[in-house]
Amino acid sequence: MKLWEGRFSKEVDGRVNDFNSSISVDSRMYKQDIQGSIAHSKMLAKCGIISESDGAAIAAELERIRDEITSGALEIDPEAEDIHTFVEQELTKRIGDAGKRLHTARSRNDQTTLDTKLYLKEELKNTLEEIKSLIKALLVRAEEGAETIMPGYTHLQRAQPVTFGCYMLAYAEMFLRDVDRFECAIKRMDVMPLGSGALAGTTYDIDREITRGELGFAAMTGNSIDGVSDRDYCIDTAAAASVLMMHLSRFCEELILWCSWEFKFVEMDDGFSTGSSIMPQKKNPDVAELVRGKTGRVYGDLITLLTVMKGLPLAYNKDMQEDKEAVFDAIDTVNACLTVFTPMIETMKLCPKNMRDAAAKGFINATDCADYLVSKGVPFRDAYKATGRLVARCIELGVELETLPLNEYTDACEFFGEDVYDAISLDRCVKNRKVYGGPAPETVLGRVKEIAKALNA
Ligand code: ARG
Repeated sequence: MKLWEGRFSKEVDGRVNDFNSSISVDSRMYKQDIQGSIAHSKMLAKCGIISESDGAAIAAELERIRDEITSGALEIDPEAEDIHTFVEQELTKRIGDAGKRLHTARSRNDQTTLDTKLYLKEELKNTLEEIKSLIKALLVRAEEGAETIMPGYTHLQRAQPVTFGCYMLAYAEMFLRDVDRFECAIKRMDVMPLGSGALAGTTYDIDREITRGELGFAAMTGNSIDGVSDRDYCIDTAAAASVLMMHLSRFCEELILWCSWEFKFVEMDDGFSTGSSIMPQKKNPDVAELVRGKTGRVYGDLITLLTVMKGLPLAYNKDMQEDKEAVFDAIDTVNACLTVFTPMIETMKLCPKNMRDAAAKGFINATDCADYLVSKGVPFRDAYKATGRLVARCIELGVELETLPLNEYTDACEFFGEDVYDAISLDRCVKNRKVYGGPAPETVLGRVKEIAKALNA
């Protein structure tokens, strides 16, 4: 039976019924739908729009329906158009006229956006906790690798020496910004739409402040047309999810490289790797690859939402029913990725010797060699040129800057002395980079403390 019976002389075509239905997607919001309806019925009773006894009967029966759905005693009818329809029909089946009074001064348009906001506010709390756990895991690895020297890259060419700790903290910074982005999204969606009605508010003398307080929203929507038309909060959520996935995907790309024999900077735990059906030697970083791959579908969810909304006149249009499938998929995907990504980071084995060996090749201390000359009073541009000549000489002789004889140095520039070898040692290069934010071990440990404090605040 349809909510809109009466106006129609014919049943909806079965095919349209299936096409129109959103219950397979929105049934997951049954708790929020019931929570919203209980708050609405309490408010109606307090304002004298329905009787106290009807209000009490509605609330009690809705609680029972919620508990029965949760326990599995009551099955959600897949034939119902959406979760709002199902709950209202079930209620009316059970308590008759009182149930029919619930929808007074309300529309499914303000109801659906209320439910989605309630659902996302709850769900995003988990996401925030998951991101924070990942950051904490990175802090542990950063502390452990504070002194572990590895090459830093630009253009994927060895550039300057850094520490593994500094590298882990680079990602921690990104995930901290993701926390901020999700917190902003939550803050902006924390606005209660009930009372907007279909679009034009209501003529009943309702008290929106009661429902707002009851449902724990920070504020209520200030315009009834916008109140039912706004899906910015879904887009904010999918955008924050997309940026987070972009960060995870970059990280995955590096981990995949680092797992290769060409790098072998890390090795994934057996529990977080997979083998090949044909090649007995293989150990594949499937988890990282799949997270990288799933980034595409989250971007897709964001583009879906932006595209659904871009041409819609105010206020509600049925197109907007597509919002939930996209935003739920974005959040489900993010949560699924974080669930495996964090323990993968926690359990991966570091190979510090390979990192250091890689750092020892490729002349990544050349900048430090030039800086040495600057400390002797040589202008940086001249120091840069002299060092460039030395690197060319090293390549000719097949040696590193550390093993190039002193006479080669003094031939290139008279200001070189025996102490250049200490100045360009990898340990010295890294220790000297103790500028705030830099890779020096003590700097890394300092930043670890700061981030840990910020997370606990
Ligand atoms: N299932 C609908 C949705 O998710 C609920 C709102 C229906 N409103 C309407 N005017 N048909 O968007």
